[in-house]
Amino acid sequence: MKNTLEYIEENKPRFVEELISLLKIASVSADPAFKNEVLKCADEVAKFLKSAGADSVEVCKTAGNPIVYGEKFLNKDLPTILVYGHYDVQPADPIELWTSPPFEPVIKKTELHPEGAIFARGSADDKGQFFMHLKAFEAMMQTDSLPCNVKFIIEGEEEVGSENLGVFVNENKEKLSCDVILISDTHIYSNDQPTVTTGLRGLSYVEVEVEGPNRDLHSGLYGGSVPNPIHVLSRMIAKLIDENGRITIDGFYDNVEEVSLEERGKMNELRDDQEHFKKSIGLNGVEGENGFTTLERTSIRPTLDANGIWGGYIGEGAKTVIPSKAYAKISMRLVPYQTPEEITEKFTTYFKKIAPENVKVKVTPHHGGMPYVLPSDTKEFLAAKKAMEEAFGKEVLPYRSGGSIPITSMFEKVLNAKSVLMGFGLDSDAIHSPNEHYGLFNFYKGIQSIPLFFEYYTKG
Ligand code: BES
Ligand code: MN
Ligand code: MN
Repeated sequence: MKNTLEYIEENKPRFVEELISLLKIASVSADPAFKNEVLKCADEVAKFLKSAGADSVEVCKTAGNPIVYGEKFLNKDLPTILVYGHYDVQPADPIELWTSPPFEPVIKKTELHPEGAIFARGSADDKGQFFMHLKAFEAMMQTDSLPCNVKFIIEGEEEVGSENLGVFVNENKEKLSCDVILISDTHIYSNDQPTVTTGLRGLSYVEVEVEGPNRDLHSGLYGGSVPNPIHVLSRMIAKLIDENGRITIDGFYDNVEEVSLEERGKMNELRDDQEHFKKSIGLNGVEGENGFTTLERTSIRPTLDANGIWGGYIGEGAKTVIPSKAYAKISMRLVPYQTPEEITEKFTTYFKKIAPENVKVKVTPHHGGMPYVLPSDTKEFLAAKKAMEEAFGKEVLPYRSGGSIPITSMFEKVLNAKSVLMGFGLDSDAIHSPNEHYGLFNFYKGIQSIPLFFEYYTKG
């Protein structure tokens, strides 16, 4: 292991340069205009996998963006680790809010990253993080210290719901068979308090439409005498959460896991730095479900948020109009024992129930995903904890995250293997936002922790 860590130390500058080359490719999956960049990125990932020492490297076609596969098989008596990541990224807009162009990576120092951080779309989510695995693998290969079999799947549609990966996994159960899945696509609590993610929330995502009059109307001739869909929709959305921060949908909390007071106590040992939390997002006060801390509200409790709302005239100047229709996109984050099907159905029934009779309401479900939990007494969790404790020189705590990686629950069902969420980002990395960045400190710690995980997981 000493040699592996030395190899990493000596090659750090090249690792960063290579990552920068990958970050220059605008592999945005949500927008078809970027299709060529997506395909180019898949090819580059395949090249990096090959040069790191993987065999059977393939760029696998799907109905959507390709999946990059590679493996190193040593011996059937050794365990197999399946590494998962995604090379697609979120759209960069609003571009004007970036301090440097999203696909021209630069290293800048920040308060939290005195060693520097790479600023670019995808730097933390997830190129910078899956790339750590390619480099850790290269280091193990070059120093002859790979302790077990390894397989890689790096997909190109995580940010749009991983639908084709779902198909691929179901069709390739043998090829992907493994003992554990290792994923770096989450964050740690802070660089002083490393954590292993023990839970992810699920997701139910819907789009709603409220229709009033059958055409846009002159607001002078009709205003004040007809239902205005924007007003109706706003009232309906406002009704979804009550004054205690509770979601009002009938039966919404029926299946919610009640986390024990003991686990909540342990969880809240993580320094819940309210002042830092508020300052970092420019707020002078927080809100949420009564009776829970911010840490709990963003991890063990389900939530509902409007993500966008539109309708009527939003162009330059003023147009006097009552729109025929108004729309909104609404996400709900789910916790264990809630399912996206159940919640989408309950939402739909309730939303129609609270609609006044003089409008029509449509609810269209989008992709969803199941929540995921990795208990902190499992061998998978313990191997990650030990690896990160050695790399950071600090005690590692379990941490439940508010984000979603729906494929984890699917891996569990289809491949019958647990996912270890050993991510190295920070919540302040601005993923999905302008000025996304990934700390060099975090990038290096990740590359060091991965071979240690391989070692401790294999030894058991
Ligand atoms: N890597 C994120 C999820 C994440 C980030 C989990 C930080 C925990 C901590 C992933 O790429 C993502 O953005 N997931 C989406 C869900 C998906 C279905 C679009 C999300 O959480 O919104
Ligand atoms: Mn991600
Ligand atoms: Mn993401």
